[in-house]
Amino acid sequence: TPVRKSPGLIQNIFNYKALNLAHSIRKRSLPIFPYREDLLAAIRDHQILVIEGETGSGKTTQIPQYLLEDGYTNGGMKIGCTQPRRVAAMSVAARVAQEMSVKLGNEVGYSIRFEDCTSERTILKYMTDGMLLREFLTEPDLASYSVIIIDEAHERTLHTDILFGLIKDIARFRPDLKVLVASATLDTERFSCFFDEAPVFRIPGRRFPVDIYYTKAPEADYLEACVVSVLQIHVTQPAGDVLVFLTGQEEIEACCELLQERCRRLGSKISELIVLPIYANLPSDMQAKIFNPTPPGARKVVVATNIAETSLTIDGIIYVIDPGFCKQKSYNARTGMESLIVTPCSRASANQRAGRAGRVAAGKCFRLYTAWAFKHEMEETSIPEIQRTNLGNVVLLLKSLGINDLIHFDFMDPPPHETLVLALEQLYALGALNHLGELTKVYKCSEEILTIAAMLSVNNSIFYRPKDKVVHADNARMNFVVPGGDHMVLLNVYTQWVESGYSTQWCFENFIQFRSMKRARDVRDQLEGLMDRIEVELSSCSGESAVTAGYFYHTARLSKGGYKTVKHQQTVFVHPNSSLFEEQPRWMIYHELVFTTKEFMRQVWSRPSLSF
Ligand code: CDP
Ligand code: MG
Repeated sequence: TPVRKSPGLIQNIFNYKALNLAHSIRKRSLPIFPYREDLLAAIRDHQILVIEGETGSGKTTQIPQYLLEDGYTNGGMKIGCTQPRRVAAMSVAARVAQEMSVKLGNEVGYSIRFEDCTSERTILKYMTDGMLLREFLTEPDLASYSVIIIDEAHERTLHTDILFGLIKDIARFRPDLKVLVASATLDTERFSCFFDEAPVFRIPGRRFPVDIYYTKAPEADYLEACVVSVLQIHVTQPAGDVLVFLTGQEEIEACCELLQERCRRLGSKISELIVLPIYANLPSDMQAKIFNPTPPGARKVVVATNIAETSLTIDGIIYVIDPGFCKQKSYNARTGMESLIVTPCSRASANQRAGRAGRVAAGKCFRLYTAWAFKHEMEETSIPEIQRTNLGNVVLLLKSLGINDLIHFDFMDPPPHETLVLALEQLYALGALNHLGELTKVYKCSEEILTIAAMLSVNNSIFYRPKDKVVHADNARMNFVVPGGDHMVLLNVYTQWVESGYSTQWCFENFIQFRSMKRARDVRDQLEGLMDRIEVELSSCSGESAVTAGYFYHTARLSKGGYKTVKHQQTVFVHPNSSLFEEQPRWMIYHELVFTTKEFMRQVWSRPSLSF
């Protein structure tokens, strides 16, 4: 009855108003708020503006809202904001939708690979830099956008760097398009210089002092040192949450486990410690947990990759623990070797990390390295990704956008000439480019190759190998082995999964990661869609010959103590995880060379008759 309903309704309206009020108070307290009018005026006056502001000042969440309020979405135009990281795009969009009291995916949405959370109504669109690059394929002048914000520009990801060149170009013939380049307080003069002396708008930060502590001697085991430091802080320091920077999922999981185990052992001797991981592949409901306020009496520890350096701001952090490392991709054009190695982070990164401790009050940063190492062993800034990666995909993308002269493309920091030439040479050898350097339309793909390509794109996370069930997991994996090598094993796994009706239970029983399979299926569907769109029929040459055609560049021959690559006579090894580890065939084809502890060929393939 209406009588019973009304208290609930009034309560709801009250809650709704209270929430709105809370948002509006919070928004007004952000460092960017006093500069709202000046910022909007500067944007009106200049086509391209560089915006510099401390992490957490409100650049990502507020600027798009200011622009919307100032009329930039009139007439159905969109405001686009790019993020280098998927997690950031999702969480920021969710936050802004909440602040505007709209449903995520309506007026405010996000777009990341395989997940488009936008609709016809979307006017504020957060997306990964890679997704905006793709939009150039369908809308080369970005005509539906009135403003493009290239956010987190200081990260200098490969995709962001390419966007710089493309957007600078379209800004010339679209004078109505506003371009904002937003960055943490790093290197902003360089952006200004690249964008024809665009002015820099600085948002003064509100930082509290952060005391920095170094270790007296280098730490032998930084993971253990992190765990000890967290517990020491927990026991000896006043209230305040802790942020730990590690390099990747494995390390983060290990650290969280160790922390939880030691807390269990200490039991009621210590107050509650809430341990939360954050990394790119963490399911999004788990990711959201890091933003939950810490209950009184407890302390929160967030163990993060460098995603928490500038992309995400977690309120309440007072203590930062920084072992001084990050995972970095590097590429050797001469040998074609790509490696993902844990390396010392840059001084700029270390300073960003320390800054996370001083957002809400005076804080402390514990650096698990010596002051000497900070001065002498760390680089000033990190090298942009474009200078340490294989450029094959970039070349294909730019060519498909009709940009043929790559040597003269307007790169902020051009990639090494050698890397670019090698990429062109490889694509030519593969038949993807013709002798004029134009894209060809020859696709010798089959159904099987689509599957293999999709599986390779998630290759390191298909098999599940929990520590307590190693034997079972390895047995399950052995059951998938078929002659021919790892590519055929992947194909076998996928085929069996399809036959199971894409079953979750089947994955569980066979120690296969369902999430990875689902992703492989998405990739496969997308590839199939692309083939369909460009009207390439799925031909059915056998999977084997297509692997040889596509990878002849990656052949290696058995030789003393390992294998030698054909092209560069480099010594490489079969990974112990490979189905061909025992067999040691005379010839091999590999998917990629990766340096971890040794130069390993990852995903190898062979057959007895393989000969050259
Ligand atoms: O981009 P910038 O680093 O300048 O700041 P921002 O991401 O716009 O963050 C502004 C404020 O929103 C910070 O106080 C964050 O803690 C908060 N925020 C949040 O609570 N949850 C999110 N998912 C994103 C931001
Ligand atoms: Mg931001």
